[in-house]
Amino acid sequence: MPEPLILSADGTALVLSLDGPGLPSVLHWGPALGPLDGVSLDALTGAWAPARLGASPPSPPVLSLLPGEHEGWQGRPGVAGHGEGRLPHLRLRTTDIEAEALAGRVLVRAEDAEAGVGTVTELHLEPQGVVRLRHTLTNLGTTPWTLAAPLSLLPVPDHAGELMDWTGRWGRERHPQRSPFHQGIRSLELRRGRTGHSATGLLVAGTPGFGFRHGEVWAVHLGWSGNHQHHAERLPEGWSVIGAGELLGPGEVRLAPGESYESPWAYFAYSDRGLDGVSDRLHRWLRARPGHPRTPRPVVLNTWEAVYFDQRPDHLLTLAERAAEIGVERFVLDDGWFHGRGNDTAGLGDWHVAKDTWPEGLNPLADRVRELGMEFGLWVEPEMVNLDSDLARAHPDWLLAAPGRTPREWRHQHVLDLAVPDAFEHILGRLDALVSEYGVGYLKWDHNRDLLEAVHDGGPGVRAQTLALYRLLDRLRERHPRLEIESCSSGGARIDLGILARTDRVWASDTNDPLDRQDIQRWLSVLVPPELIGSHIGPPTAHVTGRAADLPFRAATALFGHAGLEWDLTTCSPEELAYLRRWTEAYKRLRPLLHGGEVVRVDPGHRPELLTHGVVSADRRHALFACVATATSPYVAPPRLRLAGLDEHATYHVTPLTDLTAAPDRRFRQPAWSAAGTTLPGALLTRAGLAAPLLNPSQAMLIELRAR
Ligand code: DGJ
Repeated sequence: MPEPLILSADGTALVLSLDGPGLPSVLHWGPALGPLDGVSLDALTGAWAPARLGASPPSPPVLSLLPGEHEGWQGRPGVAGHGEGRLPHLRLRTTDIEAEALAGRVLVRAEDAEAGVGTVTELHLEPQGVVRLRHTLTNLGTTPWTLAAPLSLLPVPDHAGELMDWTGRWGRERHPQRSPFHQGIRSLELRRGRTGHSATGLLVAGTPGFGFRHGEVWAVHLGWSGNHQHHAERLPEGWSVIGAGELLGPGEVRLAPGESYESPWAYFAYSDRGLDGVSDRLHRWLRARPGHPRTPRPVVLNTWEAVYFDQRPDHLLTLAERAAEIGVERFVLDDGWFHGRGNDTAGLGDWHVAKDTWPEGLNPLADRVRELGMEFGLWVEPEMVNLDSDLARAHPDWLLAAPGRTPREWRHQHVLDLAVPDAFEHILGRLDALVSEYGVGYLKWDHNRDLLEAVHDGGPGVRAQTLALYRLLDRLRERHPRLEIESCSSGGARIDLGILARTDRVWASDTNDPLDRQDIQRWLSVLVPPELIGSHIGPPTAHVTGRAADLPFRAATALFGHAGLEWDLTTCSPEELAYLRRWTEAYKRLRPLLHGGEVVRVDPGHRPELLTHGVVSADRRHALFACVATATSPYVAPPRLRLAGLDEHATYHVTPLTDLTAAPDRRFRQPAWSAAGTTLPGALLTRAGLAAPLLNPSQAMLIELRAR
């Protein structure tokens, strides 16, 4: 009697049927189903195959790992393509399966011999409950085979009645949006040549009303930094799926005989405890990767909002000294240091130090930075070029464009075609030389425009460019294994698990406005753990919004990430510098917790004016929470603070970090505990909570908890 293949890990199960000539079909993805020993495949299909109307086809459609019409699947197919106009529907037959249920690994080889296409499907259920899925297609025939729209899909149940995704723009990424999961398709397609400011990051289906701490949720993310789609579809037959895949231009993948296409990994995560459960799984999986940054995340000083293009060596040396005095550990020289770059209209591509500003090169600054005990970091934008540059004048043919059809400018710049071998080697050579010559420990790798009309070799060029970027990062890191790289793309336009496989930090947004950052970081951190999210204290008035915020609020916001500063410290008062010194000390003391614990967010219910979020250590003995007033309230009294994620059997010392918090408004009467702290049981703090302090809008209180 055939048995189902059951993979299970950390409360998640995947049940597959290997019984059939086609690819394995997915019978279940979601909660663990308890022991299934002795439950036959027949019993499962008898239990789950849906009832149907009389006029239906004789057997119900199945959802295989690459579903198609030959299986009765009438949703968007897992793979579509054709061999020079022939056989547009593949009929894949499994030729070989390697299944290691205990290790959570399945590898399936299949073929449509007539169409001349072979596939390899890799499915991993990781110990943290994250599912990874990708497909490789190979042209086994003798003529070209064109791939249209590859998708990695998994089923979700009927009761996942609501969808959540994210959108945004420059300076305001990760804005959440929800919609009912109706019949039909919700397809989030990004054609920006980079991940995009409006990229969803995750697409989530869940039980209606799901939140951070409650509800069942099924989420998908595509680890890819080029054009892509996230897809949710509900069919009249009763199937619902979520998935993701690369978005290809016409003829972008035309496989010559013997050639292969490897899809990006799609990542899936299920949780029965809301979005926090999804982020917990993803964070634990990311942290277990061999390449995950393991050294303490250094306090950064980035020069962008400190000096912009006004890079005067004396001023920068003084800035470095101030930075070292307050405890900065990494000094990053941002845009403006290279040949011809006085502003953003010229110079990109000429990766040589501006001799007029730096006659001795960057050594006087880099050496001084190191003498002061800090690491030296440098900004670059390797994929871009200004027409006003020596590089563009010498190699106009290196632009990513069809000959004679230069795309629209964007921030005065164009894209360099990295799939041109000479262009690639030139850029690799320059980066390599800079890193070696100046002992650069860290590159802020920027990318400040969408790609438009990207053409390589006469055809769509986004895929080739994305792969060339990945190769460039890989080659540079091979040469400089200790080099760290930040992925910045006019703020948060290139944040995905594809780029994060090769980088160590993302710049979440160009806005350092703490009020907007609270939201951006809150939502971004569902996918990306805080130690990979750059978060800086900017100047008192944020340059993106023109809104002012006090230092403790900026500091409390920047603390919950890979923290740093982007502010001209030479303009700070002694009090501000003393505050910053306390803050960097607190960050260094707290970073093992902040960068290793579980991120928790409290559902605000009907009181969104007070947000509570925090990080709880794996053993639940240490936690830090922020209670954040985002707006004035229609209520006299703020709501109770219910602290999530604590050990309900432990008793905690609760300490407000008053030395980092703005002095309370003297007109307000605050709850007694908020002055010097209290000691209370975890169950009480979780279930009944504490009276929240009364905060003015744009104020936050930091609260540390230690189990007794
Ligand atoms: C955009 C980035 O997001 C900023 O932080 C800064 O590096 C500028 N580019 C520099 O041009």
